[in-house]
Amino acid sequence: MKSTIESGAAFSPTSACNAPPAKPFKPWAPRPRTSPAGTLTQLWLLARNPIETWSRAHYEKPVLSGPSLMGHVVVVNDPAAIRRVFIENSANYEKDPLQLRVLRAGSKAGAGDGLLVASGESWKRTRRTLAPLFTPRRVASFAPLMQMKAQARVEAWMRRRPGAIIEIDREMGRVAYDILSATLFSDALADGRAGFTHIEFEREMMRLLDSIGRIDPLDVLGAPDWMPRLHRRAARDSRDWFEGAVAQLVAMRKAQMSAEPVRTPDDLLTALLVASDPETGTGLSEADVAANLFTFTAAGHETTARALTWTLHLLAREPCWQERARAEAVAAPDDPAQWADTLPVIRAVLEEAMRLFPPVPHMSRMALQADELAGTHVPAGAVVVVAPWLLHRHKKLWDNPSAFMPQRFLPGARENIERFAYLPFGAGPRVCIGASFAMQEAMIVLASVLRNVRFSPAHAHEPRPLLRITLRPDDRIPLRVYPV
Ligand code: HEM
Repeated sequence: MKSTIESGAAFSPTSACNAPPAKPFKPWAPRPRTSPAGTLTQLWLLARNPIETWSRAHYEKPVLSGPSLMGHVVVVNDPAAIRRVFIENSANYEKDPLQLRVLRAGSKAGAGDGLLVASGESWKRTRRTLAPLFTPRRVASFAPLMQMKAQARVEAWMRRRPGAIIEIDREMGRVAYDILSATLFSDALADGRAGFTHIEFEREMMRLLDSIGRIDPLDVLGAPDWMPRLHRRAARDSRDWFEGAVAQLVAMRKAQMSAEPVRTPDDLLTALLVASDPETGTGLSEADVAANLFTFTAAGHETTARALTWTLHLLAREPCWQERARAEAVAAPDDPAQWADTLPVIRAVLEEAMRLFPPVPHMSRMALQADELAGTHVPAGAVVVVAPWLLHRHKKLWDNPSAFMPQRFLPGARENIERFAYLPFGAGPRVCIGASFAMQEAMIVLASVLRNVRFSPAHAHEPRPLLRITLRPDDRIPLRVYPV
């Protein structure tokens, strides 16, 4: 069923404003349940859309603790308690088995573990080894390439008639893929030598992300791995294809590095192959290089594409903020490497979009020993959930939480936001390693888009957020584009 737009400002492609709208736009969100779901409903909702399982209390209380299908679960919304989980007592909180089962779906025995799912000493070693790939200098060096790829996509839209409809979710998926493939493995797929094309690689990646993103009831119930899962078969086929393709890219690059070292591209794939642990000097095995190339592709693509999709959806509904962001983009310095630090309105719009629609809406850990969080006892073995979806919409932490109000993140107001009340990239030792890469990329794409085109919604249907590891819209988001 199509819903209507609950917006204060009527759209006109050229409308501008100097002050934030008096009645800010409130995007669609599921109505919180009045009481906790029963067992069967919980299983059904977890498979359909886990954000629908939250009750009103989850948006109002600092901590909720009790038995559930996944054992004892503690949902934490108290910033000081979250700090304890992620920082002060982080050694006591490991990634939980359900999350690892979902993320590893379809993985072959013996395949290397990427950083996202590694644990213990292996995680520590990999994190130390990969940290130099994401230093500020290294990330800034990718800015011109990011701008070039974003600009190319916008120019394709500008060749269409004014008011043409584009599906912004698909377009942002494409631009995020173009940027990731250029920064990760340059144009290794361009000449067909790999035996597959960009189109096949992107298609299989999307298929894989779609199939691993579903929570299977058997995983929730902790059923043994040999029992057939609904989406596991599809995940395994895509993962086989994808892992084979990544291994092929690694082999080709290794051959190039020894045959023609001078012409080897200086991208993240080369950096992975030459990286070594600063403590032991040991490099990554070939299986670990492939696993991390796979991880960067999976963890870095959908997340950034979703952040950009929701931001542009919100800007299309709120022309006033669209104009303010555009004015800033038009006046941006020439060097895109400076944009992440010099465009406060664009940063605020993006941060507010990631508050309402956090690309990673759910994080969980398992308590190794008993602990206490905000006065609540946490038994050993309990699953501790920190859900940015809840935290970012919590009634005690945010004023008018369901409204799109980027002014919260403008300099002067941003400093008042508690560090542990806003966690789009997580926190602590396992904080997103690609956070500054992602922020730079998203800001460059937004600025490049806004400099060139205006947007308006193509219809009144409000997309609904659906949790599939990342938070995606349930349907296409068509927008009309007009050259500026
Ligand atoms: C808007 C974009 C992004 C968002 C919102 C995001 C969010 C997150 C979050 C919340 C975590 C922590 C998960 C947890 O603690 O359980 C994480 C971890 C991670 N992210 Fe991102 N991410 C984004 C982009 C990227 C990019 C571009 C890359 C790589 C190119 C990347 C690579 C990773 C990796 C490897 C981890 C695991 C880190 C570890 O466990 O040590 N992410 N991300």
